[in-house]
Amino acid sequence: ARITLRQLLDHAAEHGYGVPAFNINNMEQVLAIMDAARAADAPVILQASRGARSYANDTMLAKMVEAVELIYPEIPVCLHQDHGNDEATCFSAIQNGFTSVMMDGSLEADAKTPASYDYNVAITRKVTETAHAVGVSVEGELGCLGSLETGEGDKEDGHGAEGKLSHDQLLTDPDQAVAFVQATQVDALAIAMGTSHGAYKFSRKPDGAILAMNVVRSIHEKLPNLHMVMHGSSSVPQELQEEFNRWGGAMPQTWGVPVAEIQEGIKYGVRKVNIDTDCRLAMAAQFRKVAQNSKAEFDPRKFLKPAMEAMRDLCRQRYEEFGTAGQA
Ligand code: G3H
Ligand code: 13P
Ligand code: NA
Ligand code: ZN
Repeated sequence: ARITLRQLLDHAAEHGYGVPAFNINNMEQVLAIMDAARAADAPVILQASRGARSYANDTMLAKMVEAVELIYPEIPVCLHQDHGNDEATCFSAIQNGFTSVMMDGSLEADAKTPASYDYNVAITRKVTETAHAVGVSVEGELGCLGSLETGEGDKEDGHGAEGKLSHDQLLTDPDQAVAFVQATQVDALAIAMGTSHGAYKFSRKPDGAILAMNVVRSIHEKLPNLHMVMHGSSSVPQELQEEFNRWGGAMPQTWGVPVAEIQEGIKYGVRKVNIDTDCRLAMAAQFRKVAQNSKAEFDPRKFLKPAMEAMRDLCRQRYEEFGTAGQA
C-alpha cells in the first residue's frame, strides 16, 4: 500500500526507528529494495531524483511502483521526489503518484548556488501549501551539504553547491531550523551535519565521531517532534571498495558515514536516511566481477542478477541496522 512520508515517519518516531530512503532509477533496484523489505518485514521509501525521472521516464516509474503495490501488498511504500529544485518538479511528481516531495530550497533552482533563507522559506512554503492540500508530504532542507574537511560543496552528482561554503552554511543552525519549520510547515527537514553526497566524503579513516551530532541533538531538543533527514548517508563500506577494485575497478580509497553514527542520529530524531552511493557500488562491483570473470558473457541478466542480489543484501542490512526491520 502507498503511504505518505508523514505517516511513515510518525510511526518511526513513535517506535524509535529510522528508515533508509534508497534511490531508484530502474527495475532491478526496485526489486532489490522490495525483496529486502519483504525479507525484513520493513516499510519502504523509494526515492527518485530529477535525473532518475528523466532516465527512467515518469510513466515507467509510476507504473513500476503500481506494480510494486500488487507484488508486495503487505509492504507500505512511500514514493518520494529526491532533491526537487523548484515547484514544477514537485508538482509533476505529485501528478505522477509521488506521496512525498523534497523541495530543496537550500540551493537556487539551478541546484548549484546557495540560496538565501528568505528564498528557501518562500519556495518551500508554496510547495507545502499545495502538497498538503492534496495529502502529499514535504521534506525541506536547511543548510548546504558539503565537506567539512575542505569546505567544498558537493557537486559530483549535479545537485550540490559549487565552490567553497562557509562553516555556517555547512551546519544547520538549530534556532533557524525552529523558525524554518514553523514558517514552512514541512513534514521532515534535511539538515547539514557534516555529510556530503557521493563516494568521497572523508579522505581519512575517521577516528571517533566525525559528524556534528551536537547539531542533531540541539535541533531535537528544540523540536522533539521534528523528523530529521540525513542526506549523504552512504557508508561506502571498505569491503565494497575492495570488491569493486578486485575486479578491475580503480576507485581511490575513501571513507563514508559510519553506521554507528547514523544509529546515534536515530536516537535523536533522525528518521529518514538517504542512501544511493552504497547501492550503486554494490551493483557496480558485481558488473565488474562478471565482466572480468566471464569475458564471453553477453546476457544482461547474468550481470544484473548478481548485482540485484548484492544490492538486496545491502538494503536488508540497513533495514536491520536502522531498526526498520519488523515494522511493516
Ligand atoms: O543525492 C542524490 C542521489 O544520489 C541521486 O543522484 O542526481 O545522479 O540521480 P542523481
Ligand atoms: P549518498 O551519496 O551518500 O548515497 O547520499 C544519497 C542522498 O543523499 C540522496 O539524496
Ligand atoms: Na530527499
Ligand atoms: Zn541528498
